[in-house]
Amino acid sequence: MIRVAAVGDVHASDDREDLLAPGFADLDARADVLLLAGDLTRRGTREEADALGRQLAGVTIPKLAVLGNHDHHAGDPDAVVAALGAHGVTVLRDAAVVLEVDGARLGVAGVKGFAGGFGHNVLTAFGEPEIKAFVAVAEAAARELRRGLTELAATGCGARVALLHYAPVADTVADERPEIHAFLGSQKLAEAIDRAGADLVVHGHAHRGPHAGATPGGVPVRNVAMPLMGEPYRVFTLGTG
Ligand SMILES: [Fe+2]
Ligand SMILES: [Fe+2]
Repeated sequence: MIRVAAVGDVHASDDREDLLAPGFADLDARADVLLLAGDLTRRGTREEADALGRQLAGVTIPKLAVLGNHDHHAGDPDAVVAALGAHGVTVLRDAAVVLEVDGARLGVAGVKGFAGGFGHNVLTAFGEPEIKAFVAVAEAAARELRRGLTELAATGCGARVALLHYAPVADTVADERPEIHAFLGSQKLAEAIDRAGADLVVHGHAHRGPHAGATPGGVPVRNVAMPLMGEPYRVFTLGTG
């Protein structure tokens, strides 16, 4: 069994460094790995990423993250990645890793994802080049997610988690205003998950949730946005046998 702690949308700022650290104080005893599901910062600055890293200093279990849209706002996501890396947080950008915990192996495929919608409200690659480019970003994210999860399957790891920022299903954005659902995620991500297989999907971005859903293929999806959960993180226990 591996205990996976997950939270998204911590939106760290560099003027209030006392907000997050207390919530993570007992994390080492409660989980084997921490997954951060994007929107690590408010505006995507190096200073905010540094502030988050300092607040995670007491967490010694492996820390993996994906970026969110906020982490791109300042136009320098590489700086956010570098700052977090200096504090021991590994940011997965369309990448997959295997962690070993007490002989059990956990695979994590990390992809930010993108928007585009769900069901009858999916944006299609028709018309202007700008629309086609938008859809192409969502398709590329789904392709990378499928590749990462497929790679993990080949390693024979005991459990696989998809770590996203954008939602893969409408279930976990349903409490948001319907007008913005298409900006909160893409069903192409769920299609990739169902093709490659996974044991758990965690994402953020939709601060209102709800928390729990599933892909059409039955993979559990959990929205772990901190404003939704009202707690510093949630722990999921995965079998690895
Ligand atoms: Fe957010
Ligand atoms: Fe977001």
